[in-house]
Amino acid sequence: MKTVAERSGAMCGGLDCACRISRRRLIGAAGAAGAAALGAAACGSPDEGPEPHDALRGTVVAQTSDIPVGGGSVVTDGKLVVTQPEEGDFKAFSAVCTHAGCTVQEVETTVNCLCHGSEFDIATGEVRSGPANRPLEELSVTVDGTDIVLDDDPATGGAAGA
Ligand code: FES
Repeated sequence: MKTVAERSGAMCGGLDCACRISRRRLIGAAGAAGAAALGAAACGSPDEGPEPHDALRGTVVAQTSDIPVGGGSVVTDGKLVVTQPEEGDFKAFSAVCTHAGCTVQEVETTVNCLCHGSEFDIATGEVRSGPANRPLEELSVTVDGTDIVLDDDPATGGAAGA
């Protein structure tokens, strides 16, 4: 069985991962529309502009039945990760890896970035295994029946109109 680091080579070619290219450089090379699409699909840029998940604020991002207890899922085309560390306790995190901006690809007992093997805690987003050294950005969600809604206001965690 391959390790996370071994699997990463097939996706990003090790440290030469295309995710290291900044959004600004992509815009210069491919035009704004192409760069936005590429960035949303594979890479993030934690230091520049809105994050890919910002467009999802106030919307239903997952159903509670889609998120396994003790694990989670990468949802909405890789824009965020929703986890359920304990039954009925739902958490959300940015899917942008804090190491070099790849989109995390899988959730098992940790959130895993296959680009270089970083692993993050499903309850807190803290780094369990590097090379990342900063936690995933935690996002506020509200459960409404079976809907998991990404809150509108990142500062207060409030839903629209709340
Ligand atoms: S981008 Fe390197 S481990 Fe995620």
